[in-house]
Amino acid sequence: DKGNYRHFMVKEIWEQPEVVGRTVAHYLDASANRFQFPELGAIDFANLQRLTICACGTAYLAGYVARYWFERLARLPVDIDVASEFRYREAPMTPGGLALFISQSGETADTLASLRYARSQGQSILSVVNVTTSTIARESDAVAPTFAGPEIGVASTKAFTCQLSVLLSLAVYAGRQRGVLSEAEEARIADLMMGLPGQFSEALKLEHDIEQMSRDLSRARDVLYLGRGPAFPLALEGALKLKEISYIHAEGYAAGELKHGPIALVDEDMPVIVIAPRDELMDKTVSNIQEVAARGGRIILIGDGDAVRQTGLDNVAALTMPDIDPVVAPIVYAAPIQLLAYHVAVFMGKDVDQPRNLAKSVTVE
Ligand code: F6R
Repeated sequence: DKGNYRHFMVKEIWEQPEVVGRTVAHYLDASANRFQFPELGAIDFANLQRLTICACGTAYLAGYVARYWFERLARLPVDIDVASEFRYREAPMTPGGLALFISQSGETADTLASLRYARSQGQSILSVVNVTTSTIARESDAVAPTFAGPEIGVASTKAFTCQLSVLLSLAVYAGRQRGVLSEAEEARIADLMMGLPGQFSEALKLEHDIEQMSRDLSRARDVLYLGRGPAFPLALEGALKLKEISYIHAEGYAAGELKHGPIALVDEDMPVIVIAPRDELMDKTVSNIQEVAARGGRIILIGDGDAVRQTGLDNVAALTMPDIDPVVAPIVYAAPIQLLAYHVAVFMGKDVDQPRNLAKSVTVE
């Protein structure tokens, strides 16, 4: 039931404050300001040598954001690949590692095949799924569910932010087990995560501005998304969301790769969407924006007030985000990129809940 919404996709976008809140609440012992994972059973991060993350599509991009969290907060070496490659790579794996599979449906064929390969290589299997009765859940040693509720829109939205919420909780938990994250830092991140529903709601207020922008964007033939650090996989996710529902060609790039090729594409016809949360990389991303501007590029900046001021450019269309701590920013910055894809597609009259050629669950390779 779509309620008062025009599409499932936008209903699910607006459900995120609630389902992210529910997911965080499940893993957070709020009285102690600590994360807890009784689901993990015998899986232990303390002496883990390597974490391998594997998934498809948007779930893969959630894993890609999480790599930054596991490396920084838990000092854990992470490998990540798309399942369709991983399953055939015959990657040698040292027994005793942990393999993490992320899947909304829990039925994605390539992800399941990768899980079975990892098991044959002596890995413990942990999955983050939305459907806990799924095959991937059943074949895992441990399951850390997302609490997104049923996701009907083919384009994944609320499952993504719930996956990110579980993965950040898990990275903090791993950091504590590995003795590299202080109690104070864990409590600080716990507070930030409890604030996520409020911050996400704030970000959703940009909807009207985004709708205004969508007219103009709908005329583009190609769109480039740029980001650095965890905003890089978000740039990939923004491009994926836009292309799958609007059929506009879009690409995500690491902002620092701009001058290694894609800058050749920049002209006054190609919108460049820059995702620049306030973190230690923001200044570098801002200087990439100036390079794009110097070549006449049309820039849409998604960043907070400081980023917008720092560019010192007037011909930048800005979506001004609330001030957000960099640790949780990837979750909140999902809001504008989802809404942007949605409104462009709706403006173009596309069937956003059932895009052509796509299935909600890809059970064949
Ligand atoms: C994109 C999208 C797909 C899925 C991918 C994995 O919006 O929905 O890319 O993320 O097919 O599906 P699950 O998570 O069910 O394994």
